[in-house]
Amino acid sequence: MTQPSNAAQRRWLVTGASRGLGHAIATIALMRGDRVCLVARSADIVDIATALGPNAMGVQADVCNPDALAALCNAVAARWGGIDVLVNNAGLHRGGKVDGMSVEDWEQSIATNLSGPMHTVRAVLPHMPSGGAIVNIGAVVGFRGFPGDSCYGASKAGLAGLTQVLAAELASRQIRVNLVVPGFVMTEMTATVSERAREKIVAKIPLRRMGRAEEIADVCWWVAGSTYMTGSVVMTDGGLMCNL
Ligand SMILES: NC(=O)c1ccc[n+]([C@@H]2O[C@H](COP(=O)([O-])OP(=O)(O)OC[C@H]3O[C@@H](n4cnc5c(N)ncnc54)[C@H](OP(=O)(O)O)[C@@H]3O)[C@@H](O)[C@H]2O)c1
Repeated sequence: MTQPSNAAQRRWLVTGASRGLGHAIATIALMRGDRVCLVARSADIVDIATALGPNAMGVQADVCNPDALAALCNAVAARWGGIDVLVNNAGLHRGGKVDGMSVEDWEQSIATNLSGPMHTVRAVLPHMPSGGAIVNIGAVVGFRGFPGDSCYGASKAGLAGLTQVLAAELASRQIRVNLVVPGFVMTEMTATVSERAREKIVAKIPLRRMGRAEEIADVCWWVAGSTYMTGSVVMTDGGLMCNL
């Protein structure tokens, strides 16, 4: 593991980067001069990364598969010498009230949204030098009860807890760990929300609009670079949580 040869050019690994927030986070880091490995399950990820230029590489991997993640991180480190920033962004949403949801939805939510970040951290850590940063992507429903969101809310609350523990554990290695919490953002994940439900949620947001992926990505960028922040919860939700 080496420090980046050019201190201004950090090496990022962003999970769930084929679309939505992950793609926006990768794009901002690349536009600002860093190198990014984009990860997703879809085979398209290789072409998606190629389209972003020579500082991007795409690797197909499932965050539920620890062996695939270890192989991926070894390959990135062999090529770039290390990984400075990990963004645990890959996630899925499964809805349904507690007595109606399937056990499979519960298990898939926990596997992807909570165990996935844990597996990815364990795969990245051997390659992350002092000064590294981990940015986890949480959710407002990980902090507030929202009917119909048991799977998703529990998985994201777990991720908030994991963030705190990792911040305390990894501080001695000068690795910072923070949680960025987007509000209601326009992506494929929210595209299926009905117009009526969308209006109800937007009415609760003090800024009275959905967020844009680029606005969340910009916050992830400065959280990754902020040298005296660890264990923090960075709300990026247009004020939604103040109003719940
Ligand atoms: N949009 C919102 O309003 C909102 C609000 C709060 C938090 N978030 C969080 O923000 C993150 C990104 O959400 P989004 O809205 O951008 O969702 P999205 O558009 O559905 O994108 C999800 C991304 O995760 C990848 N992914 C899913 N499961 C994966 C797995 N097992 N392994 C690897 N990659 C996987 C998907 O690619 P493949 O399908 O190709 O694998 C895709 O790139 C999620 O953690 C979500 O919970 C979103």
